[in-house]
Amino acid sequence: MTIALRIRRLRLADYDAMIHLFRVCGLSPRTKGRESRTAMAAQLRTPRNRYLGAFDGARLVGTVFGTHDSRKGWINRLAVDPAYRRRRIASQLVRLCERGLRAQGIEIFAALIEPDNSASEAVFRGLGYEIHPMLYARRKLHAGV
Ligand SMILES: CC(C)(COP(=O)(O)OP(=O)(O)OC[C@H]1O[C@@H](n2cnc3c(N)ncnc32)[C@H](O)[C@@H]1OP(=O)(O)O)[C@@H](O)C(=O)NCCC(=O)NCCS
Repeated sequence: MTIALRIRRLRLADYDAMIHLFRVCGLSPRTKGRESRTAMAAQLRTPRNRYLGAFDGARLVGTVFGTHDSRKGWINRLAVDPAYRRRRIASQLVRLCERGLRAQGIEIFAALIEPDNSASEAVFRGLGYEIHPMLYARRKLHAGV
């Protein structure tokens, strides 16, 4: 079932609801690092980013963070409240995010998915993404980042 939700850009005023949603969705927000209030304020102020929220009335029920590095668009923090799943909210969020990145000349989109996250894999597959098993290399300058 598709439900009528309002999707709009996230604002700093949505911060607490966003962090709550990530926790409910098992996404372990980095509140001392890249998802601290200060870090989020800077990201939300960055014009090229497309950080979107789906709202049922005043309730934040879905998020997606779209970024780009001028080569690729990256879909991050796709999360939908468990009570609202399987209503194509994630799919709508990704498509709107892609649209905002396409408007900036981006023609390739990517997401990192944990190997056991079959729901996320199914969403991206359904949206036409090819799935490439890969190793992910990263280096943190400090633990909390
Ligand atoms: C992944 C997630 C965002 C999907 O949100 P959603 O709004 O339920 O997804 P959609 O309704 O857009 O799903 C679209 C299609 O993907 C597939 N799909 C979605 N969830 C699925 C699941 N749990 N199992 C199998 N297929 C699934 C289905 O084909 C679905 O279409 P259908 O319901 O008509 O069959 C949600 O499960 C979630 O928040 N998970 C926890 C956080 C997370 O893992 N985020 C992704 C990090 S990469």
